[in-house]
Amino acid sequence: MLYYILREDSKKKKDDFEITKEGKLKIMSKVIAIANQKGGVGKTTTTINLAACLAETNKKVLVIDLDPQGNTTSGLGLDKEEIEETVYELILGDAAIRECMHKTDIENLYILPSNVNLAGAEIELLDVNNKEYILKNEIDYIESNFDYILIDCPPSLNMLTVNAMTTAQSVLVPIQCEYYALEGLSQLMHTIRLVQERLNPELTIEGIVFTMYDGRTNLSAQVVDNVKANVDVRVYKTMIPRNIRLAEAPSHGLPITVYEPKSAGAESYRQLAQEMMNK
Ligand SMILES: Nc1ncnc2c1ncn2[C@@H]1O[C@H](COP(=O)(O)OP(=O)(O)O)[C@@H](O)[C@H]1O
Ligand SMILES: [Mg+2]
Repeated sequence: MLYYILREDSKKKKDDFEITKEGKLKIMSKVIAIANQKGGVGKTTTTINLAACLAETNKKVLVIDLDPQGNTTSGLGLDKEEIEETVYELILGDAAIRECMHKTDIENLYILPSNVNLAGAEIELLDVNNKEYILKNEIDYIESNFDYILIDCPPSLNMLTVNAMTTAQSVLVPIQCEYYALEGLSQLMHTIRLVQERLNPELTIEGIVFTMYDGRTNLSAQVVDNVKANVDVRVYKTMIPRNIRLAEAPSHGLPITVYEPKSAGAESYRQLAQEMMNK
């Protein structure tokens, strides 16, 4: 088994491996898809700020924006209308991966941007073979250059999300602390299982992270209890509070670590990054 893992992943760097307490060899997740087909749950906010917090600790981080809305792209200060080399050009084979990776103003943080053109990709890829692996095949070239790669998924379970899940080693699921939190979650888990069975057996669930937690209401605590009681996956201890600074930062094209580095929002994402690194 050990041999099998090493051979299958011979492209990976040596330090992608970690010996667990039980002595088993385990591959550390470094490519993480941030997915939940519900919109507005904090995927983009988590991608941008978790990435910035990892970069702050000197990790080299690549963010991949797979949402045609391009909010991660603009939230990291890039002009999404102006960029010509994006994920769209990459997956259609019109540009090389190195052309599509852009440096952000944040040290150690790079982005593969997107814009509205990406909305057409699914149809344009209809009769392409192995379209589930287009992104993975490209990322394989550059993966060893980064400590972490975070993929911000669109709010649907479409071909782009499937590409994220074949590229990733794990899926991080942000859940907003609101009444309908559980809605759609079983469908997401089902999709993850299908991808595990058919396309990417190595895929795991990184965990759930609760977002927009409001300690002043009972509702947030109830939602957390309810999800824990109904879903059997790891839950991050760190919960991201509702914090107005987190909502303001993207309009300045900045992650929270730069926009308001001492805010509760910044501290919570730093804590999440630590928890992920210590896992
Ligand atoms: N912790 C938070 N506190 C306050 N506002 C938040 C927080 N997380 C996200 N938001 C806001 O909620 C909205 C939806 O978040 P977003 O990250 O874009 O979700 P998604 O990518 O899942 O659609 C955005 O306006 C964002 O600024
Ligand atoms: Mg988003």
